[in-house]
Amino acid sequence: MRVDLLIKNAAQIATPVTRVPHALPGNNNFMVIENGSVAIRDGVIAAIGETPEVISSLNGEMPRAVIDASNKVILPGFVDCHTHPVFFHTRENEFTMRLMGKSYRQIAETGGGIRSSVRSIRSASKEQIIEAVLPRLDRFVEHGTTTIEAKSGYGLSTDDEIKSLECIQELDTIHPLDLIPTFLGAHEIPDEYRTQRNAYIDLIINDMIPRVAERALAEFCDIYIEQHVFTIDEGRKILTAAKSAGLHLKVHANQLSANGGAALAAEVGAISAEHLDYISPEEIEQLARGNVVPVLLPGAVFYLNSNHYAPAREMLEAKLPVAISTDFNPGSCMTESMPIIMTISCIKMRLLPAEAITAATLNAARAVNRQNTIGSLEIGKQADLVIWDMPAFEHIVYHFGVNLADTVIKKGKIIWQKQRNPVLKLYRKKLKESLQ
Ligand code: NIG
Ligand code: FE
Repeated sequence: MRVDLLIKNAAQIATPVTRVPHALPGNNNFMVIENGSVAIRDGVIAAIGETPEVISSLNGEMPRAVIDASNKVILPGFVDCHTHPVFFHTRENEFTMRLMGKSYRQIAETGGGIRSSVRSIRSASKEQIIEAVLPRLDRFVEHGTTTIEAKSGYGLSTDDEIKSLECIQELDTIHPLDLIPTFLGAHEIPDEYRTQRNAYIDLIINDMIPRVAERALAEFCDIYIEQHVFTIDEGRKILTAAKSAGLHLKVHANQLSANGGAALAAEVGAISAEHLDYISPEEIEQLARGNVVPVLLPGAVFYLNSNHYAPAREMLEAKLPVAISTDFNPGSCMTESMPIIMTISCIKMRLLPAEAITAATLNAARAVNRQNTIGSLEIGKQADLVIWDMPAFEHIVYHFGVNLADTVIKKGKIIWQKQRNPVLKLYRKKLKESLQ
């Protein structure tokens, strides 16, 4: 068998699998292969299993390249299914304000928060925005993420929303990370519409959505349902219009209050409902009946120093395919690292290590309608995987706050590799020279 890349001798390959129903409590959908290998051909997984098995499937043909993954673990690349990476300036001042006692909502209501990011993105050109976003995409990759969903939502005018979505489109072509675009014009009411919110909703429905859909600039339409932002009725209007324009739907729901956003997500047939920190048991059932993927964002709960985490275990009991994501954004969660979010998920929402991996890969892929191509390591799936410098898969959550990624592979190509101790190498070289 012709193979472009063989990764062999991994201490473990750990992955969710799609052949059995996933996200059931007890992890019976999770596969761990000891001494595992993966063979990749044309960017796709051609063979996976125990090393001797995979080697014999090559029928004596030499692979074009080989990586020895001894003492390392292979996991699927993370799918970060809820991010807001298209902002210009950062908002560290708000971090300090919160430490001094102001709440996220107070900051938002006094013109900070999302509205401050809006003023900032409007002042920047497409080129400046792309330059600001690129290092963030690098950091996603460095921490083991191979696909992100990326939202607009800091433009809030037709031109600035389109500008943001064009940035996402361009970044997707120039960067090896895959970006899946979501239109989030309903992220906030911009300053100039504060006294005429209906006019802003009309603008979204009659101008933004048709133009975004016509140019296929987004695959999903999202909305922020919250007391200080959009109401359920407004959300219903916007999401219904987006659906008729051919966009799939997502909802920021029940983040800071029990606002009924999850029920709305089920009602309008959204693919996912996100945050869900204040979801009710009835709404959990509604999500299950409506096949809505719950995307939990415990990093934002942690970062805003709340203690109100989404009831992940109850959702797993209801057989919901719980997904987790960073919610990377300059206000409520400034991190590109999925592993730190996974550790928070385990500690604060009581996910088990294997459940956290499933939530960050296969279930996250379901939240962006990519479960048939990414999110697990199975024959025929895209070869998006990461080799981790760890002896067992649990270390991804257990050994926290450090980056143990070793090699990141996207569509069968190495896109990032850990630099091995450059300082130490230099020191050794000097030592050697001085001894000669
Ligand atoms: O998901 N909830 C709304 N949007 C973001 C926050 C965006 C911001 O503060 O800039 C979130 O938490
Ligand atoms: Fe968000």
